[in-house]
Amino acid sequence: MDDRLKNPGPVMTDETFVLLRDFIYEQSGIFFADNRKDQLASRLAFRLKANNLSDFEKYYYLLKYDQNAARELRALFDSVTTNETSFFRSPPQIQAFQDKVLPEIMAAKERRGEKTLRLWSAGCSTGEEPYTMAIVLSQVMNGRRDWDVKVVASDISEKALRSAKEAVYGEYSLRSVPPEIKRDFFVAAGSSYRIVDEVKDMVEFQFLNLSDTRRVQLMRGFDVIFCRNVLIYFDDQVKKRFVSQLYDCLNHGGYLFIGHSESLHNISRAFKLVHFPGALAYKKE
Ligand SMILES: C[S@@+](CC[C@H](N)C(=O)[O-])C[C@H]1O[C@@H](n2cnc3c(N)ncnc32)[C@H](O)[C@@H]1O
Repeated sequence: MDDRLKNPGPVMTDETFVLLRDFIYEQSGIFFADNRKDQLASRLAFRLKANNLSDFEKYYYLLKYDQNAARELRALFDSVTTNETSFFRSPPQIQAFQDKVLPEIMAAKERRGEKTLRLWSAGCSTGEEPYTMAIVLSQVMNGRRDWDVKVVASDISEKALRSAKEAVYGEYSLRSVPPEIKRDFFVAAGSSYRIVDEVKDMVEFQFLNLSDTRRVQLMRGFDVIFCRNVLIYFDDQVKKRFVSQLYDCLNHGGYLFIGHSESLHNISRAFKLVHFPGALAYKKE
């Protein structure tokens, strides 16, 4: 069927698709393969409307040359990212983080007389992942106050970050949260749930484009990094560059978790692959 009949919005020509696709790739590392042209057109149709533009070519020139280009770039990032996430996603990874990784790192640090922990959720979306990390950390800490702990959470989508900072979630987002955790770490707010302040205050959100090598280079000293379900948006070239930067962001003895269906095969040999029940993690020895 003719694209115009399927999707009665403005039509994206193949030439404009390549211009926009290459622009998005240069700016974010996010790669739209040829078969995702319709998806890109439907996601950007809203931006055309918001800017009162009649076609995608004009939108491309706005992004490239307009005085509002920087602001529109942020809106573009909101439009092209997929923010699918949930609390306690991939439970075997969370279990490994709770039962093995945190105790191992904390024991090693205690032997050295260090009591700081820095965790990073890279590509944190609307906050469910970093808050899960903070809840688990708080359980492992079990009331101890002598540790200096922080979860840094970053994303390229300002819209997702705004929602993360609000820390209010509907019943559906909490579908995998065990009842005792719901009781101890959430407060009912009308028909929604708010994260308790003790956990909320452990997480620091920031805008960070993971393909911005200079900015990522400043991220240092992490004990655990969760970068789950983010690499899938990058091609191999960006994955290799970024994963090698993640290695440098970790402390020795630190761990990287990627999405349970993702792999670093052919991407990096720097890490030691560690097997946990139902989950894998990558260790910097
Ligand atoms: C599918 S979500 C995954 C969220 C969470 N990590 C999880 O596994 O549940 C992917 C997130 O990566 C973010 N993302 C994609 N490309 C990015 C980039 N270049 N820099 C920073 N964040 C990016 C998206 O905005 C989105 O929120």
